[in-house]
Amino acid sequence: MTRTFITNGVVVTSSGTLDADVLVDGEKIAAVLAREPDTTTSTTADRVIDATGKYVLPGGIDVHTHMEMPFGGTFSADTFETGTKAAAWGGTTTIVDFAVQAKGTSLLSTLDKWHAKADGNCSVDYGFHMIVSDVNDQTLKEMDACVDAGVNSFKMFMAYPGVFYATDGEILLAMQQATASGATVMMHAENGIAIDQLVAQAIAAGRTDPVHHGLTRPPELEGEATSRAITLAKVANCPLYIVHLSASHALAAVAAARDAGQNVFAETCPQYLYLSIDDLARPDFEGSKFVCSPPLRPAGHQASLWAGLRTNDLSVVSTDHCPFCFKDQKELGRGDFSKIPNGMPGVEHRMDLLHQGVVAGQLTLPRWVEVASTTPARMFGLYPRKGVIAAGADADIVIYDPAARQTLSVATHHMNVDYSAYEGMEITGKVVTTLVRGRPVIDDGSYVGAPGHGSFLHRGLNQYLV
Ligand code: URP
Ligand code: ZN
Ligand code: ZN
Repeated sequence: MTRTFITNGVVVTSSGTLDADVLVDGEKIAAVLAREPDTTTSTTADRVIDATGKYVLPGGIDVHTHMEMPFGGTFSADTFETGTKAAAWGGTTTIVDFAVQAKGTSLLSTLDKWHAKADGNCSVDYGFHMIVSDVNDQTLKEMDACVDAGVNSFKMFMAYPGVFYATDGEILLAMQQATASGATVMMHAENGIAIDQLVAQAIAAGRTDPVHHGLTRPPELEGEATSRAITLAKVANCPLYIVHLSASHALAAVAAARDAGQNVFAETCPQYLYLSIDDLARPDFEGSKFVCSPPLRPAGHQASLWAGLRTNDLSVVSTDHCPFCFKDQKELGRGDFSKIPNGMPGVEHRMDLLHQGVVAGQLTLPRWVEVASTTPARMFGLYPRKGVIAAGADADIVIYDPAARQTLSVATHHMNVDYSAYEGMEITGKVVTTLVRGRPVIDDGSYVGAPGHGSFLHRGLNQYLV
């Protein structure tokens, strides 16, 4: 087994920073050693990484990605192979992707289908959530079988009528089923019935540009749906995780529920922290690059989201990585914004963009690690195997240079998509090395991993529940 000794770095965990060395033995962290000249350890290692001036972080965990996802007559452009390589470039060592139940199909056959896409193709470790789009007796029974198969989080949609949408009654039934097995329901909380009316009105009036995607999905309808989801979860006594929260209205509902002691959790995504409806309004159909749901909001929402991250009303930052190429895919909605495939690329840039929050004084270093790695691990049953630098944990380790400068661009990113949502953005900090279970995947500007090194994670239950 290969022994790697990481020396001279600053170990950052969710509980603080430490001048310490890390010994990796095979796939696991063998020891975290107070900094002392220890020639014995370093000379017995097969490889020594000098992390002087660098952070040593637990690998990032992105619990919201969509590789090869069918949507609007096309598929998101990253495969599990390309998307997990890009993840590793950005310091993410685990993804949790969404298997998508098509109407009329079973959850277990869906799971098989997603295993067939991912198994043997991933450079980083991976797990699945299940999107439930067809609530019936068989689906409800199969939710328990999914839990047994290590998939214990079920995403439902209050948006997209006729596609993924579930009625309040169906949501209640699925929540009751989840409660019985200890599973968590994840909610896309937007009032899709009302939104569809606004969309039809806009198209009929000739308001077809991408910005109208945002204008027809007002934040009030995210706030309303979030409150309704919280109420349904309360009635069903079900843990609820609000995905891709974008608006202060929704955040207020989450904060109130948490203050009242309910098991309600929420994530936001970098696009809601850094981009705004002004990007959706870019001319010449450029705005289509920023079409995702919920939509980018007026910039005023960003300050509340950063504050929510500090107060823990937002406890996770994931990407909702769902890339569609500008040229062939976003194009499907030219002349009708409602036909633009919804989603944006981002899996490669989450750690870096959040590091800008540290640089700007929005987050502390430990909080950066907490929202990007430790809490996702706990929330989705992976801790302490993942999300921490400690003896016995998987050696998912990122060596991060906090002083390096880089410019985000389609010319240099590794995601399989023909644009960057952050084109030209100059940032501070860069991944130098990414280890996944002890194996280097990114090393000093090169990909040195192997599709197939990533293994499926049979996840436990949400560890925030008592
Ligand atoms: O626009 C988005 N968010 N696309 C991905 C699917 C989803 O709702 O998460
Ligand atoms: Zn969603
Ligand atoms: Zn998503």
